[in-house]
Amino acid sequence: MIRFENVSMQYSSGTFSLNDISFTIEQGQFVFLIGPSGAGKTSLLRLIMRQLIPDEGSVFVEDEEVSSRNFKSSDELRKKIGTVFQDFKIIQDRSALENVMVGLEIVHHKNPKEEAMNALSLAGIEKKAGFFPLQLSAGEQQRLAIARAIAGGRQLILADEPTGNVDPVTMWEIVHLFRKIHDDKRTIIFATHNAEIVNALKQRVITIKKGKIVKDKQRGSYSLDL
Ligand SMILES: Nc1ncnc2c1ncn2[C@@H]1O[C@H](COP(=O)(O)OP(=O)(O)OP(=O)(O)O)[C@@H](O)[C@H]1O
Ligand SMILES: [Mg+2]
Repeated sequence: MIRFENVSMQYSSGTFSLNDISFTIEQGQFVFLIGPSGAGKTSLLRLIMRQLIPDEGSVFVEDEEVSSRNFKSSDELRKKIGTVFQDFKIIQDRSALENVMVGLEIVHHKNPKEEAMNALSLAGIEKKAGFFPLQLSAGEQQRLAIARAIAGGRQLILADEPTGNVDPVTMWEIVHLFRKIHDDKRTIIFATHNAEIVNALKQRVITIKKGKIVKDKQRGSYSLDL
């Protein structure tokens, strides 16, 4: 569960702000986050990861107020939240298996190797466990990033334009993988500019423009008009 209560935040440059953002995402929901470039999608995701702290209001992850200045357990947050980015953000000089294990060792997982292999299997690239990123296609690298995100049973996956760097066929494979990990009862927040994906999946769509939520619709479609 994620809840924003009247969240406002301004970058110190003073050029952009998120204004009075409120919404709740229940455990197991699949939510698209859409809006023009610069609307604040990535900033909103960073508030959930506690990479940004709001100036006003509160952000809750499973009833814990991560926006509190006193919040201490960043490890706890890393155990709960997996992230997937457009540019993969995987470590180039580590194998696929090691890339997934690193994220598990940080949170002191008991069986990092076994768990990493499970995640690679779920993502369909267990045969490439010993390969380095340069030996993987873009689609495989994104599968690896998804394996890393779900490893250790993380229940909340934040994806920021995860299909931005792959060809159309691979794009649908990645979307299919997101549906599969969602069937596993995980919560997914998927920021995208891709209308085809949003329209095909018919999930909840939250639209932001200029730092404000302008629409929030169950079984929504891609539209930036009001
Ligand atoms: N660290 C920062 N300091 C100052 N301004 C920032 C910072 N990061 C982002 N911004 C500004 O905040 C605004 C929102 O950025 P954000 O990355 O959240 O948009 P977005 O909706 O994710 O856009 P895109 O679709 O292009 O990824 C932009 O105007 C951006 O320039
Ligand atoms: Mg962004």
